[in-house]
Amino acid sequence: MAKTIIVSNRLPVKMSIKEGELSYQSSEGGLATGLGSIYKEGDNIWLGWPGLATDKKNTFKDEITDTLQKDNMFPVFLTSKEIEDFYEGFCNETIWPNFHYFNQYIIYDDDMWKAYQKVNRKFAKAIEKVAEPDDTVWIHDYQLLLLPEMVRSLFPKISIGFFLHIPFPSYESFRLLPWRRELLMGMIGADFLGFHTYDDMRHFLSSVSRLAGIGNSNGKINVGNRKIMVDALPMGIDYQKYHETASAPETLAREVRYRTNIGETKLILSIDRLDYSKGIPQRLRAFEQFLKRHPEFLEKVSIMMIVVPSRDSVGKYKELKEEVDLLVGRINGHYGRLNWTPIHYFYRSFPLNALSAFYRMADVALVTPMRDGMNLVCKEFIASKLDKKGVLILSEMAGASKELSDAIQINPNDIHQMVDALHQALIMEEEEQIQRMDVMQKSLQRYNIHHWVALFMERLKFIREEQQSLETKIIDDLTRTDIIEKYSSAEKRLIFLDYDGTLTGFKGNPQMAKPDKELYEILQKLIDQPQNRVVVVSGRDKTTLEEWLGHLSLEFIAEHGVWKKELDGKWKTITKITGQWKDEIRTVLEGYVNRTPGSFIEEKDYSIVWHYRKVETGLGEIRTRELTSHLNYLAGNKNLQVLEGHMVVEIKNSEINKGRAAALWVDKQKSPFIMAIGDDWTDEDTFVAMPEHAFTIKVGSSASAAKYSLPSPSEVRGLLTQLGQA
Ligand code: UDP
Ligand code: G6P
Repeated sequence: MAKTIIVSNRLPVKMSIKEGELSYQSSEGGLATGLGSIYKEGDNIWLGWPGLATDKKNTFKDEITDTLQKDNMFPVFLTSKEIEDFYEGFCNETIWPNFHYFNQYIIYDDDMWKAYQKVNRKFAKAIEKVAEPDDTVWIHDYQLLLLPEMVRSLFPKISIGFFLHIPFPSYESFRLLPWRRELLMGMIGADFLGFHTYDDMRHFLSSVSRLAGIGNSNGKINVGNRKIMVDALPMGIDYQKYHETASAPETLAREVRYRTNIGETKLILSIDRLDYSKGIPQRLRAFEQFLKRHPEFLEKVSIMMIVVPSRDSVGKYKELKEEVDLLVGRINGHYGRLNWTPIHYFYRSFPLNALSAFYRMADVALVTPMRDGMNLVCKEFIASKLDKKGVLILSEMAGASKELSDAIQINPNDIHQMVDALHQALIMEEEEQIQRMDVMQKSLQRYNIHHWVALFMERLKFIREEQQSLETKIIDDLTRTDIIEKYSSAEKRLIFLDYDGTLTGFKGNPQMAKPDKELYEILQKLIDQPQNRVVVVSGRDKTTLEEWLGHLSLEFIAEHGVWKKELDGKWKTITKITGQWKDEIRTVLEGYVNRTPGSFIEEKDYSIVWHYRKVETGLGEIRTRELTSHLNYLAGNKNLQVLEGHMVVEIKNSEINKGRAAALWVDKQKSPFIMAIGDDWTDEDTFVAMPEHAFTIKVGSSASAAKYSLPSPSEVRGLLTQLGQA
């Protein structure tokens, strides 16, 4: 049976060796806690690093493997050197700071990059051992960005999902990394990529466009001949688990114990891994300011601050630990009383029941990261509030802020706002607390972790099905015979032919792509047969088509469907439209021509085109990315469509397309034999408009709605020659 293979750097359990014995505990961090509670439900296995160094001499490997296997987990072992260069190094000193906009902390080091590639390959090998071609591989997070492409090359047809648990930075940040392109190409090996927020997704698409030269349409990207999809899917929590744990006897017993120890003060809760992205010092300073500005709260409120040790061999984390220790010492030293400690500070992790007791006790949860992919702590706090009393203060820089608009939202760089928020939270009426909490609980209950997993899998399945429907079959001898037979026996035939890239190859100058003798002969043979109506469907203007082909008994669709010419020989417009919008767009295009030697503008009646076939390789692609995003922005409210063709960007009214025009012929003449051939995505509209029995043929290898494909214009000519002789 097909299974799902979850792959992440960290497994939901952490192994360690204490006094010669193997011991293990749950892992911290949103990925492990979020997925850890549900992966056992289906037929899943989980591959990852068990959290300790296993150098060659390590004798525990077999025991670790056996222990994990009992829970359907498989270890990927890392040596101390790999931990240093891959995990602490490239993952947490290069990608982590970059993706969280702490660019001043980035270490750029080639050896770390090599280790990152090597460990990703190690993961790929581990997957190779357990995967079957019909499995689903679900890869998680920033430690494994190269893995989707590696798995793709091992199993070209396997289903691969990827989810990023941290922010994806803006192109302006991402471009700093010397290895940005490799990282991106690694990611797009997946079929479906999920991000927590729309902004992460938008940033990712913009990087794909700028760095890989691939545009998107509604989150779908064509990677070679594979269509992949990107979407925003905020991760939820196991709501029921947190809700139920909050009323478990052990939780209640702990609450009583803790309360006896700290007394009846109000409690502000802060829980995070030790990480500069979490804004811990900023939070402490805000609390200090609060005590200064609101002395009426002295002895009346304390912070319970839990900092979970994390990545403590990484330099910046060590520095942060010292800073936090100093700040806590300073504040407690200055404000503390014999009977009151302003900050109860714990540098360790706690079991679930203890966390649940803290969530229950807290009047306020203070969650103020400088940047956070999602942040699950704030969601767990909400789920644990059985009586709905309590206030969440949440940083707008956390992914969760997009869903939790009933929290008091703050900018963690604004200390005054944080102080005011604390005050507002501590004096908030119970009625308002309940009202806000209720809204947030309902939302988290609905968008829980089960919902998230189901949605992810559904989206992955959706794009896989779309991929299958876009698979074209190269015309083999059997299909060729079938086409010729159906052609020969039909008493009426309708043939749609695109011009550039289909009947002729591409030329540096569009005017050079004139029909040659061979093409005239092929077309002549086709129209000589009285059963045939042959329609040339082109993006070109009607003057050129008329000049080159007008003397033949062909019919035409020009300018992507603005104009048509039937056998009566008259050019007519198909839709009533205006071209008034062209002035503004022309000015924009002229700016691009000025900056891009070799590019030029072609103006048609109802569209305007920017050509870059003569531009230096690479530059044209870069400008296209910039130009299309610029144009898409302008086109939004003007009913315009921006089309990227082969070496062109065309802007036209969105009501016009080749398919709409071609449908006029299909409807009028009911032909038993219909064939449509085209090469770029403007021809996709034609393919889609064709009835089921039509032979639709795509020239080239990219994904298409056409049923069949041919590799080049010369093959098209070959097929048409055969038909002309049939
Ligand atoms: N957590 C834990 N033990 C602790 C403190 C926290 O397991 O002592 C868990 C917490 O319940 C949450 C996760 O660690 O599920 C932290 O996830 P979050 O998304 O808030 O931040 P991340 O660590 O992923 O950046
Ligand atoms: C974040 C990351 C996870 C990571 C976790 C804990 O949640 O998104 O991938 O596992 O932090 O960090 P660690 O370095 O201990 O795995």
